[in-house]
Amino acid sequence: MKAAVIYENGDPGVLRYEEVPDAECPDGCVVVDAEAISIEGGDLLARATGQLPAVPHIVGYLSAGTVSEVAAGVEGRAVGDRVVALNAGGSHAARRAVPAAMTWPIPAGLDAGRAACVPVAFGTAYECLFTAGNLAEGQTVLIHAGAGGVGMAAIQLAKRAGARVLATASDDSRLEQLKPFGMDVGINYKDDDFVEKVMADTNGRGADVVLDSIAGKNLTRSIQSLSYGGRAITVGVSGRDNEKLDPVTLWRSNSSLHGVYFPSSLDREHERVHAQVQEILETVARGELRVVIDRVFALEQAAQAHRYVLSRRAFGRVLLRP
Ligand SMILES: NC(=O)c1ccc[n+]([C@@H]2O[C@H](COP(=O)([O-])OP(=O)(O)OC[C@H]3O[C@@H](n4cnc5c(N)ncnc54)[C@H](OP(=O)(O)O)[C@@H]3O)[C@@H](O)[C@H]2O)c1
Repeated sequence: MKAAVIYENGDPGVLRYEEVPDAECPDGCVVVDAEAISIEGGDLLARATGQLPAVPHIVGYLSAGTVSEVAAGVEGRAVGDRVVALNAGGSHAARRAVPAAMTWPIPAGLDAGRAACVPVAFGTAYECLFTAGNLAEGQTVLIHAGAGGVGMAAIQLAKRAGARVLATASDDSRLEQLKPFGMDVGINYKDDDFVEKVMADTNGRGADVVLDSIAGKNLTRSIQSLSYGGRAITVGVSGRDNEKLDPVTLWRSNSSLHGVYFPSSLDREHERVHAQVQEILETVARGELRVVIDRVFALEQAAQAHRYVLSRRAFGRVLLRP
């Protein structure tokens, strides 16, 4: 089968389109023939840094398509089922084997491309806002990187829960595009200080929850924008800035800081989190939550596609098609 593989970590140029051995299907697994591969923020990190278990290595979390093989010990999945599949690697390929428990049936009416974008972005956003953040109706949330995959999911989920939604992005046109998703106030962090904007919007009270996928100095500022007893959720390190957090920052408003790592949630609380993602897939299929696809590249253009995501010009997800 064809795959976009890497032999070393590095910039998108390390991705090579090659013939690799077909995926084997161990007990408990299914093989999924990919129709669409979502390029996730985490895929860029996994390409750029981290240990490679073996080479050639196929990066990528999420793909969606049709089950073509079912191994012993699998219940509830059959050849021909349309599913979304998640694993630590292996998505940038025409085919992959994944544990059956790491697949979700694609509801009728939902195409594979949009389905592929759901589990990590929406699952992570849900865990941040509600499981870690206890966001409730009438509260205020600040969502960083609102125009990213996790950000757009979080804006919609927070709005449906009845929260006031503030979001940041690097330019005004992206913020304008976020309004129909439920963003109440957009903050262009290049022009404005987001702490001041949050305080102005909340009459000096601060946000109840901040979803921070940037880290570094941004995380310190996120905590400074919290209300008394507010919760900052750290979920990503997109800013690649190594400033360390001074714990005293949390004292001012008796704030708390929570980490969320979606694979841990799915591993440790599998039944709840798997069911949550299935419910979100069904909500997307009904048209009540939106997934935006910015562009689709052929799998052999994986390097170009990663470069395009890094350029931060995309509004919504970028897909690969085998
Ligand atoms: N912990 C977990 O379980 C988990 C799960 C999913 C994702 N994540 C992490 O969460 C982050 C967001 O993921 P995603 O899939 O939403 O990513 P994405 O769709 O690629 O969006 C990332 C957004 O971050 C913003 N950004 C701000 N500073 C940036 C910088 N220095 N470099 C690049 N982008 C920057 C960009 O928007 P602007 O240009 O508008 O600022 C960009 O659109 C990533 O760091 C990812 O690794 C973590």
